[in-house]
Amino acid sequence: MQWTQTAVLVKPDGLQRGLIGEIINRFERKGLKLVGIKMIDMDDEMLSEWYAEHKDKSFFGDLKSFMSSMPIVAMVWGGIDAVSVVRKLVGTTLGREAEGGSIRGDFGMSQQFNLIHASASDEDAKREIGIVFDKDELFAYEHAMEQLIYADYERSLK
Ligand code: CMP
Repeated sequence: MQWTQTAVLVKPDGLQRGLIGEIINRFERKGLKLVGIKMIDMDDEMLSEWYAEHKDKSFFGDLKSFMSSMPIVAMVWGGIDAVSVVRKLVGTTLGREAEGGSIRGDFGMSQQFNLIHASASDEDAKREIGIVFDKDELFAYEHAMEQLIYADYERSLK
């Protein structure tokens, strides 16, 4: 149990499908704290770094073209165990098999067009946040709801 941050991208299909508000709403309702948000075009260099683990996969080229085909919305969310909390809300990679109630389970049918990216580990989150965000684009502020969302012993872990 620890306070962490995680990176989220609403992919081109999520943008086109008008799901940005829906996605933000789900994270806000859960009790996660928005730490940073921006709309960007991801270029080839950025995507090669972001998806380095997939560089030898057959779909690497397609994935990069898809991700650079239009802007994406990048976000950083924080909270206790934020990486695993967000992964659960997002659902498994393949939309048509993703759990009902998750973002992909409720809105997706595809593997590549799976609407959203969420960091897989704390280490990935740190790396991914560093690719897209400068330090001054990440905000530390008091989240008034925190006292209702977490117990004192959980807040004291910060
Ligand atoms: P994500 O898990 O966010 O990061 C890797 C992405 O690669 C994944 O989402 C999918 O969008 C994409 N992907 C995974 N497997 C395939 C595949 N077999 N063909 C095309 N794209 C894929």
